[in-house]
Amino acid sequence: MCGIIGYIGDRKACDVIVDGLKRLEYRGYDSVGVVTDNDGKLYIKKGAGKISELEVKLNLSELPGNRGIGHTRWATHGVPDDTNAHPHTDCTGKIALVHNGIIENYLELKEELIKKGHRFKSDTDTEVIAHLIEEELKTERDFEKALRNALNKLKGSFALGIIYSEDKEHLYFVRHESPLVLGIGNGEMFAASDIPAFLPYTNKAVFIDDGEYVILSKEDYKVKDFRTGAIKEKEVHVIKWSLEMAEKQGYPHFMLKEIYEQPRAVKDAIYGNAEFIDEVAKEISGYDKIFIVAMGTSYHAGIVGKYLFQRLAKKVPIVEEASEFRYEAEEVIDKNTLVIAITQSGETADTLAAIRLAKKRGAKTLSIVNVVGSMATRISDLVLYTHAGPEIGVAATKTYTTQLTVLTMLAIALARHLRTTDEKYLNTLEEELYKLPELLNEALKHADGLKALAKKLKEKRDFFYIGRGISVATALEGALKLKEISYIHAEGLSAGELKHGPLALIEEGVPVVAIAPSGKTFDKIVSNVEEAKARKGFIISLGDNEELMKISDVFLRMPEVDELLSPIIYVVPLQIFAYHLAVIRGNDPDKPRNLAKSVTVE
Ligand code: F6R
Repeated sequence: MCGIIGYIGDRKACDVIVDGLKRLEYRGYDSVGVVTDNDGKLYIKKGAGKISELEVKLNLSELPGNRGIGHTRWATHGVPDDTNAHPHTDCTGKIALVHNGIIENYLELKEELIKKGHRFKSDTDTEVIAHLIEEELKTERDFEKALRNALNKLKGSFALGIIYSEDKEHLYFVRHESPLVLGIGNGEMFAASDIPAFLPYTNKAVFIDDGEYVILSKEDYKVKDFRTGAIKEKEVHVIKWSLEMAEKQGYPHFMLKEIYEQPRAVKDAIYGNAEFIDEVAKEISGYDKIFIVAMGTSYHAGIVGKYLFQRLAKKVPIVEEASEFRYEAEEVIDKNTLVIAITQSGETADTLAAIRLAKKRGAKTLSIVNVVGSMATRISDLVLYTHAGPEIGVAATKTYTTQLTVLTMLAIALARHLRTTDEKYLNTLEEELYKLPELLNEALKHADGLKALAKKLKEKRDFFYIGRGISVATALEGALKLKEISYIHAEGLSAGELKHGPLALIEEGVPVVAIAPSGKTFDKIVSNVEEAKARKGFIISLGDNEELMKISDVFLRMPEVDELLSPIIYVVPLQIFAYHLAVIRGNDPDKPRNLAKSVTVE
């Protein structure tokens, strides 16, 4: 996830752009860049770091001109450094552009362009677009047409801001599966990834749709279809949000916004890793002694990882809390050990200590991380990013489902490499994985019902979450979400454990949440639910099988999905439920008491 912004008008472009970038920083903050035009000459300043530091260090306010574009980056291809920071330029230096998204076919395009003599300066997928437009301009002199020809060769997701020094009157913007909105001013125009970027200047917005591009001038904007060139009529919306509301995109809390972002986040996790996953799987395929280390929600992702590795790659990792591993595992780690660390922040003290210990003992380390450039990424041998974008709510939501997505991809790639699972089944699973964004949207539809349920259960003192097999992790995660933001006691456990003790606590009206997708142990969990029902527990079940409905007080019908993918979908209603209970009880779900987003002390 990155943020883009553009301005054309009478103000000093750099001031508007820097101001807007500060409000887009939530979309990424590993590097920043601005390009302005002054009378047909482009001025570029860019570098790794946060906008507040670079504004001074690079003297961004010195950039001349009334037309320009800017970018705040969250690295996908290429490390966060000065060279990989946007804008990127073509060989002539006349085209500069910024990009939010991922170009899937960039390697192929880059190879062709290099053969044609183009010289690349960065490792990004973005730079390819500048050279591609330059190449098209060799045969099509009209910039707009050349741009269209280039766009039709790109595969992936992209929102682009483009400046061409020979066209002094315009800026160009494009949208395909990454957000873009125009701000309509009086004698000035804005374009950005999100409304807060320009809201202090205008509250009139035009939402650009996939497959459209925009030609922006001071007084006017034209929106066209980039496949046909046809003009598109667009509606101007008047935004009534305050700046604070706009930063949350109209959601009352970041947590809710982040829950709803999951279809997009999971999609980015899939596309952002598709290219690297086989290589990483190959590198780790020789290890049989595997530890997965993490804390909290990331630890629950580790439990899902264990089931995935077991079922698909026939490897049995030991999943351990990093806080335990760091003191207990030293003597059993050696160079034949693989340690997989899962951490959204990449800064959790216990997880970092676990990685360092593994390294000290000569083990191979792989980290699954959300924050680019964080410590975990710097000290690990291998890194896979979750591409969820910055998560501001303290309770992990989209970073969890993207961790699960990456682990699923890794287990599939490993199984394929080791030939441990039937290829046909792996293909079907992979096809379903690509459908996850749609299925997540379906799961989100339970939101209203869950709000009503939260109202009904707001005075309950204890909740039990039960699951079997891979759903044990979902039970643990559902209980953790509830505890941390609603401050209600909740216990997550494997349903088989119920009658070994906890069943003594089930009495009339005690809520029992059963995570019961169809699969290997469906019949077993039905029996466990019956046990709780017999003690008059209040049964809330999540599943895709009608049989459950008969024995449940509340039944949430979930989309049908392979059991191995179910944790990604089934956790969503549990996040929403916890969110509503927190709000109804008067808590701020974004800032739960006693907790911090990143636990950097032991
Ligand atoms: C719970 C939550 C925490 C984190 C844990 C590890 O919602 O967010 O339990 O999962 O503190 O954090 P990371 O993943 O940053 O290592």
